[in-house]
Amino acid sequence: MADRRDWVATPGTALRGDLAIPGDKSVSHRAVMLAAIAEGESRIDGFLEAADTRATAAIFRQLGVAIEIPEDGVRIVHGVGMHGLHAAREALDCGNAGTAMRLLAGLLAAQAFDSELVGDASLGRRPMRRVIEPLQAMGARIDASDGHAPLRIHGGRPLQGREHALPVASAQVKSALLLAGLWADGETVVREPRPTRDYTERMLAAFGAEVSRAPGRAAVHGGQRLVATDLQVPADFSSAAFFIVAASLVPGSELRLREVGVHPRRTGLLRVLRAMGADLELVPCAGPGRAGEPLADIVVRHAPLHGVDVPLDVVPDMIDEFPVLCIAAAAARGATRIRGAAELRVKESDRIAAMASGLRTLGIAVEETPDGAVVRGGTLQGGTVHSHADHRIAMAFAVAGQVARAPVRIGDVGNVATSFPGFEVLARDAGFGLSAAG
Ligand code: S3P
Repeated sequence: MADRRDWVATPGTALRGDLAIPGDKSVSHRAVMLAAIAEGESRIDGFLEAADTRATAAIFRQLGVAIEIPEDGVRIVHGVGMHGLHAAREALDCGNAGTAMRLLAGLLAAQAFDSELVGDASLGRRPMRRVIEPLQAMGARIDASDGHAPLRIHGGRPLQGREHALPVASAQVKSALLLAGLWADGETVVREPRPTRDYTERMLAAFGAEVSRAPGRAAVHGGQRLVATDLQVPADFSSAAFFIVAASLVPGSELRLREVGVHPRRTGLLRVLRAMGADLELVPCAGPGRAGEPLADIVVRHAPLHGVDVPLDVVPDMIDEFPVLCIAAAAARGATRIRGAAELRVKESDRIAAMASGLRTLGIAVEETPDGAVVRGGTLQGGTVHSHADHRIAMAFAVAGQVARAPVRIGDVGNVATSFPGFEVLARDAGFGLSAAG
């Protein structure tokens, strides 16, 4: 990414006020994808304006879908139906977005034309066999080098529905297979080892598709059509998480985060923070939730935290929140033990290694394990840490700077634009000490 700025994070004021957090990344990607293959015009409100989700929208334009932007945060998608996408002239660039690449692998494997999916250096390191192999088992042909992007997808292959038992809990893989299943012969069934976010299943139903569901199981029949619908994207809990932890840590804080999506498969962090002693109040919002999502205002007040053992069953429900949980753990009294989270090693960076090395730089003892870490709470010192070109690592260390004894410099924060371009300004408005540095 061209923007190679650093941040300097220092203690600011107590965090106070009401914050509006931008739209959910997972929901925004899926909303564009399903609207594109539906029949008719869908309006998406609350669309996340960020590099990842814009990459998905740009890809569907390349595939022949007209998408209007009447204003920021709104997309009007002129769906082309299940057989209306066209071959793109050039490679389809997913940027940093794993969700885009994995879900599109499923969707494009079922088309009549060839496509090529490419991404940035981080995406080129992420494992793609987890989608390639089950899609191949359905009859798809996808070439990749050693299981990594770029993915060359050969179209015109009839797909056969089948049952998949996923070895890892992954909403991205589940979604890729369900999307491919919309064009497959017969039924495509996905069983997951632990339930993951079910936005694809629920959104398919909102677009009129039949999806059969039971705990840990989702299935679709091929040959269905989707019908356009309007969607409202909720505020992204994963973006709210940085403010939830910051307000818990900074004395005197009281923040209200407005109308955040509090889907139970996303909010595991709340359960763990509560066990650590956090003062969190959820005020449910009345009326039908956005995109069928439960919504709540989250009110966070400062409270002293203590370490915990993170329960294994909560891990998939907070998979994107471990970087910021590590900051909470570093500032807590006692040790926090994380296990069963080996997936963190194959996210936008190796998040276990990135957090362990950054926290050690800041004077915190961390024992790294293959599938987690033990973080021994203490006093955060200043120092220079690296984002590893990972948005969530950058934002997590911005939170660390709010309670560190000296400035925390965070290297190469340009990647924050992939999920939360407005973070720096919103954080300062809330009371963070955070500034750009050369
Ligand atoms: C996502 C699922 C998760 C998550 C990612 C978004 C999604 O990945 O980490 O940020 O939108 O489905 P996995 O399903 O690979 O765990």
